[in-house]
Amino acid sequence: MLADYVGVAECRCVSSCTAALTLSMRVLGIGPGDEVLVPALTFVASANAVEHAGATPVLVDSEPGSGLIDLDQAEAAITPRTKAIMPVHLAGRPVDMDRLTRLRDEYGVQILEDAAHALGAQWRGRMIGAFGNLTAFSFYVTKNVTTIEGGALVTQDPEVAARVERLALHGLSLGAWQRFSDAGFKHYEVVEPGFKYNMTDVQAALGLHQLPRLDEWIARRAQLWARYDDLLADLPVHTPPPADPNSIHARHLYQVTIDPDAPLTRDQLLHGLITHNIGTGVHYLGVHLHPFYRDKYGLEPSQFPVATAISELTLSLPLSPKVSEADQDDVVGALAELLT
Ligand SMILES: Cc1ncc(COP(=O)(O)O)c(C=O)c1O
Repeated sequence: MLADYVGVAECRCVSSCTAALTLSMRVLGIGPGDEVLVPALTFVASANAVEHAGATPVLVDSEPGSGLIDLDQAEAAITPRTKAIMPVHLAGRPVDMDRLTRLRDEYGVQILEDAAHALGAQWRGRMIGAFGNLTAFSFYVTKNVTTIEGGALVTQDPEVAARVERLALHGLSLGAWQRFSDAGFKHYEVVEPGFKYNMTDVQAALGLHQLPRLDEWIARRAQLWARYDDLLADLPVHTPPPADPNSIHARHLYQVTIDPDAPLTRDQLLHGLITHNIGTGVHYLGVHLHPFYRDKYGLEPSQFPVATAISELTLSLPLSPKVSEADQDDVVGALAELLT
């Protein structure tokens, strides 16, 4: 169903998007000595997958406004060691796939899309996942479609899909459906050491019933998004930049940026909202600000000024198809009380 929805030949479901990214590194042949360009502003799973492969994540700053990977800076960071670029469709907003495809073709680098936030998004009439790259999705509990934990990898290449399937289950030549069928006993053989990254049928059953509703949910998210934009107009916060009119934004996260002159800091505001019973999130503290990456690669906040500012000044407001207008009024009422 996912392959049909995205419009690709192959899809393999796995235990998480992190698993899909980790397996992709293996399938793309990325290892020690290789570099992968990763946005500084992402969940650490993106960079961790590169680290686990023994390769070097080279962080790239965000473009102002959208927070997406700055593709001018990404292009400037390509070296002979650059094996891949890992764009992240942050918050559900698609990265410029025309530009990325040009970089892929011109420099011969591979593209692994981290589409954890972007199932259902489109770039100028084409689904995210259908651009001929490996693309990883997440069905973690906060995502637009959830199997509580889960992920998927889509590809046009049946050999890649077969290898991903094998690597996700110890490297066995036969999966459970083939081994435990009624057609008689079958031995499996290990053809390469794999991982334990399979999605269970119970998880898949949850996802199967959500996928047909995803487009309707994204449309509802878009309505709530527009309503937040209106309600927040007079408060000292900046609402997210408008979506590209020819693309579909998956509306996963509604991130506002607090005005540096506002009477509260972002962290005080987060705390204040929690005391009003309003759940918030920070997406994200840039990878360069985490001690492991900061210390291993000697990174300074000033090297990534846009990602650092977003890390310090943004917060995400509650957004899901089940958020009601009354819920939104509560959120905005609390923000108004705290900020004035
Ligand atoms: C941008 C991004 N990449 C990767 C992941 C990892 O997804 P999962 O939790 O399914 O492993 C997440 C999850 O939150 C994410 O937000």
